[in-house]
Amino acid sequence: MTNLYLQEITSELKLALTKKNHPLKFCVLGTIDSENTPQLRIIGLRKFTDDFNFTLYTDRRSAKVSQITKNPKVSLLFYHPVKKLQIKIEGIANVIKDCGLLKEQWLKINEKAKRDYTTMFAPGSKINSPEEITYLKEKNFFSSIEIKAETIEYLKLKETSHFKVQFHKDINGWVSEFLVP
Ligand SMILES: Cc1cc2nc3c(=O)[nH]c(=O)nc-3n(C[C@H](O)[C@H](O)[C@H](O)COP(=O)(O)O)c2cc1C
Repeated sequence: MTNLYLQEITSELKLALTKKNHPLKFCVLGTIDSENTPQLRIIGLRKFTDDFNFTLYTDRRSAKVSQITKNPKVSLLFYHPVKKLQIKIEGIANVIKDCGLLKEQWLKINEKAKRDYTTMFAPGSKINSPEEITYLKEKNFFSSIEIKAETIEYLKLKETSHFKVQFHKDINGWVSEFLVP
């Protein structure tokens, strides 16, 4: 019966990949930095599979990539304001190294978006003015991160009573527990 919630999450996340302006297209990715400080940023969801693997694209020089390399434990937070649905994922991230897969993903990105991965200086570099940003023509720093979910938390706010259920990955699949919201 709790599978219905997993099914709802699955269908909404799949919709987010195809429907324009869907609120689950963007999520908050949480990583831990070398000072043990949580770091958060908005990121676009690029792929989602039925076994709760998430794919995100980024610049391989970005802080998140080095944080994940040192500590692969991450969180993802999605919010659907119309459904008042919050989805929280905890999982293990992996920076993709497979050149063939990276090339395949890169070729599917539209030309305008490709520019985001070609700045001369790394994301987060200090500059004197925004005019200093230059884009390289022959080189890119495209990278892809895969996150395998280990826990999934579903929270729905309702007029009558709020509702929260959490799923943990087990050898037999997802095991659910209801939680006080
Ligand atoms: C709406 C929105 C979408 C974004 N999508 C991405 C994305 O898909 N990939 C990405 O690396 N950064 C994306 N960003 C920028 C990140 O929030 C962040 O500033 C950048 O990745 C650097 O993060 P880091 O220094 O913590 O690694 C997006 C920002 C916004 C506001």
